[in-house]
Amino acid sequence: MLPAMEQIILNPEKSPLPLEISGCLDRPVLLEIGFGNGEFPVHLARSRPEDIVVGIEVSLTCVLKAARRAIRAGVGNVHFIMGDARFLLRECFPDMSLDVVYMNFPCPWPKSRHAKRRVTNPSFADALASVLKMGGYYELVTDEEWYAHEVGEILGAHPSMRLERYTVNPVRPVTTKYERKWMEMGKDIHLVRIEKINNFTIKRVLSEVDAEMHLKAKIKELNLAKLRNLFNHEGGHKDSHWVFKDSFSNEQGVYLIEIIVSDQGFEQKFFIRIAESGEGVIFKLAETGSPFRTPAVKGALHDLCDRLRTESEE
Ligand SMILES: C[S@@+](CC[C@H](N)C(=O)[O-])C[C@H]1O[C@@H](n2cnc3c(N)ncnc32)[C@H](O)[C@@H]1O
Repeated sequence: MLPAMEQIILNPEKSPLPLEISGCLDRPVLLEIGFGNGEFPVHLARSRPEDIVVGIEVSLTCVLKAARRAIRAGVGNVHFIMGDARFLLRECFPDMSLDVVYMNFPCPWPKSRHAKRRVTNPSFADALASVLKMGGYYELVTDEEWYAHEVGEILGAHPSMRLERYTVNPVRPVTTKYERKWMEMGKDIHLVRIEKINNFTIKRVLSEVDAEMHLKAKIKELNLAKLRNLFNHEGGHKDSHWVFKDSFSNEQGVYLIEIIVSDQGFEQKFFIRIAESGEGVIFKLAETGSPFRTPAVKGALHDLCDRLRTESEE
């Protein structure tokens, strides 16, 4: 059983989302990305009861731990969203909606083949520049000196942001699990603060796609073999790509086909459900693993339907 359901948003499909939930656009909103066990956001929420604190975390275990911590602390002004912040930061928050974005001890992804995952990548910088309020800031704390310098140089060079502060071993109101770990090992802690100084906006992919994901087609003699023939078929359009994987069926004549998609490098896995209905066949997203309705999800649905329809007309 999930604790504090009202505080956990397990599958945010709408955008913008946390601000709607809090209903408090006029209150300061502070976000932490990758909050781990939740110590930092719960402390923030407790010490700033007038503000809204939001956390994004990709691990369900961490989200549950943090929610239990929030209940024990009796704070109601904190919300946790489960998912990948590289996508959610841009898609869930409108322009100029956040006062501060914190990141405490993210993995620095030191290997060059993982450089795209670092916060210094251009799409993260653009998302930050768009969601921060004017004068708002992004604050990163890390034990890796090279990483702190890279973040300061690259984000600080963005046309809408500037390096405001670089501090070694800052005094902080709360320490996190990783902070204590690095301090016990005698490592220095590096804090970089980047301030937003100019307006900036970016395109959101979710707002460009209509949420309707439901197609009907006449398909003759649909069967599992036909679906399995599509195994590993790929498709794509601009920055969106998809591939069809395994297919399954049940006794009621319902088929599920597994799909992997990517939108600007943001990956999702889900199923399309195909079932006979009246004179046609209905294609829709299966409830299991419900994905964000991105251009790649829509592209995959249409491509699957078109391929099966064309084949059945031949
Ligand atoms: C090294 S831990 C630091 C945890 C905590 N901030 C601390 O200082 O103790 C990094 C955290 O970031 C989370 N994380 C990694 N990539 C993420 C992403 N793309 N979106 C959201 N959270 C992410 C991980 O699940 C992990 O909990």
